[in-house]
Amino acid sequence: MAVDVLLGLQWGDEGKGKIVDVFAPKYDIVARFQGGPNAGHTIVFDGKKFVLHLIPSGIFHPNTACLIGNGVVIDPVTLKKEVETLIKAGIPVREHLLISRKAHLILPTHKLLDAAREERRGEQKIGSTLRGIGPTYSDKIGRAGIRVGDIELSDFQERYAGAVNGHKEFLDMYGYQYDLTTWQAEFDDAIEFLRSLKLVDSEHYLHEAQEAGKKILAEGAQGTLLDIDFGSYPFVTSSTTTTAGACTGLGIAPGSIGRVFGIFKAYCTRVGSGPFPTELHGEEGDELRRAGGEFGATTGRPRRTGWLDLPALKYAVRINGVTDLIMMKADVLQIRSEIKVGEAYRHQGQLRYDLPYSLEDGQLEPVWRSFPGWEEDITGVRRASEVPHALREYVNWLEQEIGVPITYLSVGPDRAQTLEMHSNEAVSPRGFDF
Ligand code: IMP
Repeated sequence: MAVDVLLGLQWGDEGKGKIVDVFAPKYDIVARFQGGPNAGHTIVFDGKKFVLHLIPSGIFHPNTACLIGNGVVIDPVTLKKEVETLIKAGIPVREHLLISRKAHLILPTHKLLDAAREERRGEQKIGSTLRGIGPTYSDKIGRAGIRVGDIELSDFQERYAGAVNGHKEFLDMYGYQYDLTTWQAEFDDAIEFLRSLKLVDSEHYLHEAQEAGKKILAEGAQGTLLDIDFGSYPFVTSSTTTTAGACTGLGIAPGSIGRVFGIFKAYCTRVGSGPFPTELHGEEGDELRRAGGEFGATTGRPRRTGWLDLPALKYAVRINGVTDLIMMKADVLQIRSEIKVGEAYRHQGQLRYDLPYSLEDGQLEPVWRSFPGWEEDITGVRRASEVPHALREYVNWLEQEIGVPITYLSVGPDRAQTLEMHSNEAVSPRGFDF
C-alpha cells in the first residue's frame, strides 16, 4: 500500500496539524518523519485547542496509530509534558503512540549548545527556536548522537555521560555560563517516563503495516523553504522537510510514496531570520499578522507576514512532487480589497520566474499581480459551490500557474471549516471518514 505524505510548502506554520487531524480518520497510521519540538501543530475541535510539538496530529482519532519516526529528534521532557497533557484531556495516548528506537534524543546540553551558538552568531543569528534541534542533528550526522533505543541498553548512562562531556567541552570553549541542575533532574525523570512508552523498530513496523494493506500518512514539520538542502540556507532548520525526508525519516522506499499533499497559506509568513522577498512591512504587515493570529505556536514570537511567493511555491511543488495542493487561511484575506501575488522577481536586471541561488534581502524585487479581494466572511462556507467568485478566480489562477489542483481549501481553524474543492461534500465534524 502506498504511503501518502503531507508537508508544508513555505516557511512552516502552514496549518499542517489541522489538516492531518482532518485526514486522520482515513488513515490507520500517522507517522511524523522529521523535525522535533521546534514544531507547533495546532488542532481545534469542539471548542478545544491543542498544540502538539512531537506527537503526530492524528492522536485525537481512536482508530489511528501515531508513530514518531526515526527522522525525528525527541526532547523527552517535552514529550512527557505533551503525553501527560493529552492524558489529562482524556486522550488514550499510551495505547496509540509508538516511538522509533532509531529517533535521536535531544539532551539538555544540546539546548545549551543551541543557545550558545546562536549567541555567537550575533547579527547573523538564525532565529532558532532554541529547542536543541541543530546540535542534535549535528551529533546524529557526526555519529555522536544518543538514540531512543539506547535507553534500553545497560550502558546508557556511560553513553549519555560521554555525549554530555563532549558538549561541556564546547560550552566551556565558548565561555557559556550554565547551570544544568534543574534540567538534569527533569531529563532523568523524562527518560524513565520514556521507558514506559511503546518503543518500536519503526521501519519494520511500517513495512509490515504496508504489507497488511494499512493506510499510512507521513506527517512533515516546518516547511520546504526551511529544508536543510533546498531552503533559504543558512536560515533553515536542520532536517529534510521535503518528501525525500519521509523516505529517510521512516524507512519508506521512494517507490512507495503515493499522494503528496502540499500545504500553503493564501499568503506567506516566516518566523525567525532570513530572506523573505514578498514580505509586507509596517502597518500592512501588522494588519495581516493580527488578522491571521500570526504568532508562533512554539515560541509565541510574532511572525513576519507577506504575499504569496509564486516562484518559491512552484519550486516547493517540484521538489516534493506534490499531487494535491491545500490552501489554508483563505478567510484571513477577507480583510483586503486587493490581493497580491509575487509572480516573478526582478533579479540583477533580469526577470526570473524561478528561485535564484541567493534570496538575500534587497536583491530580489517581486513583480506583483493583483486580484480583487472577496471582502466577505467565508468562515461559514462549507461547500465548494459556496466559495465567492473572487476567491474561486484566485484559486483557478494558482492551479493553472502551478499545474497542480487545489484539492482542499481551509476557511478557519476548526475541522469542519475545510472544503473539498472538486466535490461538493461538506466535511464531517469528525474529519474525513470512509
Ligand atoms: P530551529 O529548527 O529551531 O533551529 O530553527 C531554525 C529556523 O527554522 C528558525 O528560523 C525558526 O524560526 C524556524 N522554524 C523551526 N521550526 C519551525 C516551525 O515549526 N515553524 C516555523 N518556523 C520554524
